[in-house]
Amino acid sequence: MDKNQTFYVTTPIYYATATPHLGTLYSTVLADVAARWHKILGESVFFLTGTDEFGQKVAQAAEKVGKTPQVFVDGFIPGYKDLWKVYEIDYSRFIRTTDAYHIQAIQQWITNLQEKGDIYKGAYEGWYCTPCETYLTEKDFEVGEKNPPCVSCQRPTEWVSEECYFFKLAKYQQALLDFYKNNPNFITPKERMAEVVAFVQSGLQDLSISRTTLSWGVPFPYDSQHVTYVWADALNNYITGVGYGQKDREAEFAAWWPANLQILGKDIIRFHAVYWPAFLMASNLPLPEQLLVHGWIKVGEQKMSKSLGNSIDPLVLSKEYGADAVRYYLIKQLAITQDGQFSTADLEQRITSDLANDVGNLLQRMSVLAEKNGMVEVLPGQWKQEELDLQKKLQETLQLMVYEMDRGYFHMAYSHLWKYINAVNSYFHALEPWKLVKTDKERFATVISATCHSLYAIALLLWPVMPHKMEELLERLGIKSIVFDKNYVQVLENVCWDMRFVIQQGDALFKKPEPSEETMNPFVEEIKKDTSITIDDVIKVDIRVGTIVSCQSVDGSDKLVKSQVDFGDLGMRQIFSGVRPMLTPEMLQGTQAIFVVNLKPRKMMGEESQGMMLIAKNDENCIIPIRPASPVPNGSKLS
Ligand code: MSP
Repeated sequence: MDKNQTFYVTTPIYYATATPHLGTLYSTVLADVAARWHKILGESVFFLTGTDEFGQKVAQAAEKVGKTPQVFVDGFIPGYKDLWKVYEIDYSRFIRTTDAYHIQAIQQWITNLQEKGDIYKGAYEGWYCTPCETYLTEKDFEVGEKNPPCVSCQRPTEWVSEECYFFKLAKYQQALLDFYKNNPNFITPKERMAEVVAFVQSGLQDLSISRTTLSWGVPFPYDSQHVTYVWADALNNYITGVGYGQKDREAEFAAWWPANLQILGKDIIRFHAVYWPAFLMASNLPLPEQLLVHGWIKVGEQKMSKSLGNSIDPLVLSKEYGADAVRYYLIKQLAITQDGQFSTADLEQRITSDLANDVGNLLQRMSVLAEKNGMVEVLPGQWKQEELDLQKKLQETLQLMVYEMDRGYFHMAYSHLWKYINAVNSYFHALEPWKLVKTDKERFATVISATCHSLYAIALLLWPVMPHKMEELLERLGIKSIVFDKNYVQVLENVCWDMRFVIQQGDALFKKPEPSEETMNPFVEEIKKDTSITIDDVIKVDIRVGTIVSCQSVDGSDKLVKSQVDFGDLGMRQIFSGVRPMLTPEMLQGTQAIFVVNLKPRKMMGEESQGMMLIAKNDENCIIPIRPASPVPNGSKLS
């Protein structure tokens, strides 16, 4: 297989100690969207996901409920597989670390590295965190401190002393630093690279990779009272899943490895950006192309997690809103590189305004109008300037989307698509085909055709995010299925609009949800409420610096200005502010200001305002903008 035409993407493997929640769904949907995006680029795709089933944490959880570890983990697998089906996660293989082929390949890996001298036997003692399965390093506690807290979970650690096998991590310190230097795009977002480099620069110690204190793990070859430390076996799933160490799968391994994209949450970056590349170097294998590190979904100020009891069941969400709408929300509404808040009210708002209004209504209005005027078959139109402008806008959108998808900023890619969707809506509105049909049938047919071509492009580009709904949309245009042997992005970019559509009537593509009473999440299992104001309440308000890239007065209002504000990684936002006549667009354009960015979006003068500019008033009641004293990066958070 031509390596340029293949794409291998992975998710972390999930602990088989609980059913999946919205956080785990997030990592998985990101990978699925990447996989599907590369399918519409005409590439062959392999998508690996699965479960992490060994280790102390699993053994202890099983013991608590009186089950053997194997029976315990088996019980969680249907929960994952069923949910992935509901959410249209089209994985190529579901790996379980208890699969025989994985265990055998890990033993092969250990043997190879022992022969090379990169795995050796020694003794280890130190402060150990059982839930996180890691030892503290010297930097993590004061000399003489008793049971110092774990750096990740803050729980007290225990002193552990054991004979164990080590992986020669320190040997790879310089090679890792060289690799980061030569591959500055290895980690997205780039800012996280600095953390990793600093950690490696501060000095690496050899990594203890075996345990004798438990039996629930991959046994070491020829020394079976040792089992592998869970991360040593888990990280290698990314190679065993595509055939590493398996005689009958050598061609498969050669075809897929190295991975093009590995998705993971920010909590597990050290394992993926330090240990994992070192393991691969020791195995003389190439390193993955890109690690895409996403932020956390939070509820209030806490990471959503099963153990905190604040998790949201994605199955309930899918029943209420449909899986595609939830996928859309996760991709477009959460900025991938940042932590994001989940709110049902916000999800409902997005479904109503982005999906039902912007996409669904456009389809419905166009198809009803066509039907009313006896138009079923739609042929290419007689394109005029308005349509050529639309085509040009599509080409620009595609280039921007390819760029953003490539660097892993999916939310930005889809923000660009939404600008195109808005442009198509404006086109349809401005051309008034319902009037044209009475005066100029040919022009009417052209407008319908241009709208169909645009909807076709929208459906293909949105298909990675909402496969089911977009296939429905394509069917409404008379297109039965997507054939994946074309690079659709190039097709859309280069070929004139020469399609033929057969419009099918149908129900609204997206149902507008009834707004729920609660402003927070009715599906959160438990939220700790506190009516007094604490620092946590203050932190809830997401206040950021943005540059007002463009600004204009709003017709029909003597107060409002409409600004396009650049918030860096968070993307561009449109924000309305009632500051005229004291502040004019000229005074604001090109300046930095401070905005609340997690305010519920609201309609102002028929358009959406996605934040609020902070201002102050002086003694004369004049509006004074608030600005950083000197320029700071766009998107900087106030704290
Ligand atoms: N088993 C390890 C990964 C081993 S990979 C070789 C693990 N499992 S996990 O089930 O705890 O988490 C897996 C992924 O889910 C991580 O990427 C983690 O960041 C993600 N999420 C878990 N909770 C999350 C949120 N609340 N928000 C976003 N993602 C989070 O770690």
